[in-house]
Amino acid sequence: MNDTPKTSSNRRVLSGMQASGRLHIGNFHGALAKWVELQDDYQCFFFVADWHALTTLYSEPGQVRRYSLEVATDFLAAGLDPQKSVVFLQSDVPQHAELALLLGMLTPVPWLERVPSYKDKQNQLTEKDLSSVGFLGYPVLQTADITLYRAGFVPVGEDQLPHLELAREIVRRFNFIYGPTLVEPKEIVTPTPLLPGLDGRKMSKSYGNAVYLSDPDEEIRNKLRNAVTDPQRQRRKDPGRPEVCNIFAYHKLYTAEGRRQEIDAACRSAAIGCVDCKAELIKNFFEFFGPLRERRRRLEAEPHLVKEVLAAGAERARAEAEQTMILVREAMKLGIK
Ligand code: TRP
Ligand code: SF4
Repeated sequence: MNDTPKTSSNRRVLSGMQASGRLHIGNFHGALAKWVELQDDYQCFFFVADWHALTTLYSEPGQVRRYSLEVATDFLAAGLDPQKSVVFLQSDVPQHAELALLLGMLTPVPWLERVPSYKDKQNQLTEKDLSSVGFLGYPVLQTADITLYRAGFVPVGEDQLPHLELAREIVRRFNFIYGPTLVEPKEIVTPTPLLPGLDGRKMSKSYGNAVYLSDPDEEIRNKLRNAVTDPQRQRRKDPGRPEVCNIFAYHKLYTAEGRRQEIDAACRSAAIGCVDCKAELIKNFFEFFGPLRERRRRLEAEPHLVKEVLAAGAERARAEAEQTMILVREAMKLGIK
């Protein structure tokens, strides 16, 4: 329990994101920014989970392919560095599927039915038939992703904690039955930052209230200009409440503290209007994301660069994954000797 990431002997980190859409600034602040930092202290594996995306997008395979490239491009633009980390596409490493199949042998179905995201997502995405084996087995595949690389640490958002707990349970069951083979992973929880969407609800691609890393400049300007602010601030002379304003929540990320305090006071006294406040935010937003967005434009123009990174990453990932599979196949006494 007290085994903190910095002192543990296991210096390996793994995490992934589903290829279910382009990444937005919530994904950046909630996960990617942390991953970029981890690269300097750990041996990191970061991947685009296209098979996981297929659990909900199985009837739109073209989308998954398109999003896989988009997400990989977002990864590299955000600063995942193939010199430091292994960056790859899940389906390029068939060992993920092999291990998931084998873990499925010892994973009781009721464990999977108890995972909160299982029922939650079925209730949310009512337009989709999510009664498939693949969707139920989502956390088993995730456990395979993690254990295949013997990763000690998995940076995830709070919503993923039940998946990590289940992964540990599956690992313990495996090691109990077949002897110690797999590593129990620990989470590095990235606290969900208070990042509301443009309408004040949680930023989410399904709400249509997100600002994407890859949105064109003009679209970002329009989105921010039209964002909901303090609803009680109807007229210019009405005092505002920064604590309920989305735009102010963004100032917390992109505006220097001193200036932010001035804005806070000026909003409360109606000395500043929302139009000017937003203009200032827009300027600071582009300053903050300038280098990232420039890298993204370059990569977008040369997608072969992204594909080359993924191909090289897959090669390294397969070599690592195969090491674990040799142990797993032996532990489960597969093959005839
Ligand atoms: N389930 C994760 C999410 O939706 C994505 C994911 C797939 C993942 N495999 C993983 C995260 C392995 C960490 C480790 O965000
Ligand atoms: Fe929000 Fe700024 Fe308007 Fe205040 S002035 S309500 S902080 S946009």
